[in-house]
Amino acid sequence: MNIKKIAVLTSGGDSPGMNTALRAVVRTCAYNKIECMGISRGFQGLINNEIKVLNTRSVRGIINRGGTMLYSARSKEFLTKEGRIKAYENIKKHNIDALIIIGGDGSFTGGMIFQNEFNFPVIGIPGTIDNDLFGTSHTLGYDTALNTVMEAIDKIRDTAISHDRLFFVEVMGRDAGHIALNSGIAIGAQEILIPEENIGMEELIISLKKSKEAGKTSSIVVVAEGDKTGKNVFELAKRVEDKFPDYEIKVSVLGHMQRGGSPTCFDRVLATRMGVKAVESLLAGEYSKMVGVQHGEITLTPLDLAIKGKSKINSELLRVSEIMNT
Ligand code: F6P
Repeated sequence: MNIKKIAVLTSGGDSPGMNTALRAVVRTCAYNKIECMGISRGFQGLINNEIKVLNTRSVRGIINRGGTMLYSARSKEFLTKEGRIKAYENIKKHNIDALIIIGGDGSFTGGMIFQNEFNFPVIGIPGTIDNDLFGTSHTLGYDTALNTVMEAIDKIRDTAISHDRLFFVEVMGRDAGHIALNSGIAIGAQEILIPEENIGMEELIISLKKSKEAGKTSSIVVVAEGDKTGKNVFELAKRVEDKFPDYEIKVSVLGHMQRGGSPTCFDRVLATRMGVKAVESLLAGEYSKMVGVQHGEITLTPLDLAIKGKSKINSELLRVSEIMNT
């Protein structure tokens, strides 16, 4: 297929690096003398015809900006066939030949359905802080989120030490524990609770007792938001407090700050490489694939595999965190 015009959208939870990838997509289109169009607010924007021409001037000054200049959204209407037909009509109206989706697993699922229903070329760039996609060691924004979390918990540690307190800190990741595991190791957490490894309440209590008996007067437990040890981090902290009445326990939910901030150097370089690869893949006739990085190389993975494969927790990291826990 002779691709002369590519559209790009950002979808799902935003992440640092989305703007950098968008900039690379636009510049690579210009480099190859093909047109680029930006769709605002994800698939809902495609349905509502919020589509505009993007050129190299449009993406000036965004390389270091968190968030997405195209805005993002989750679209219920796109889950309906009627919604997707409306979207496709706008694709045709603008003579768009292919679509680049910068988003996570939910966005890629929508893109895959769209591709199958209309035989329309789609390429995915993994933009999510969760790092929960198969086929890439890093999703865009993951490295930035890790550093944001590490810096935030370093600050919490200062006050925990000053007041002899135990802090439960909840971090994002939806149902993946990558942010919790890596940030927990980086800040020296007493325990790291992730959905992939349910250590259970008893083991948590034993670990906290051991640290107190060893003379530790303050601790940090990092809890992934998808962890199921307790109903939620507040209920979990209450149950621990019942076991340690004399230990002052606090909870801190980092929340959406993890999604913002200027992308790190790693994320900016990765985003730029992925943006170039996405455009060049479409021009080379590669469709329904996700751009990724594996062992430092930029690769392509079939979208369905990227979504279904999920990314596994690194067992060596689990072992490292166990050793550090002694
Ligand atoms: O997928 C990214 C993410 O930040 C998850 O880690 C989190 O659970 C979810 O999005 C929050 O979604 P929302 O921004 O709709 O609250």
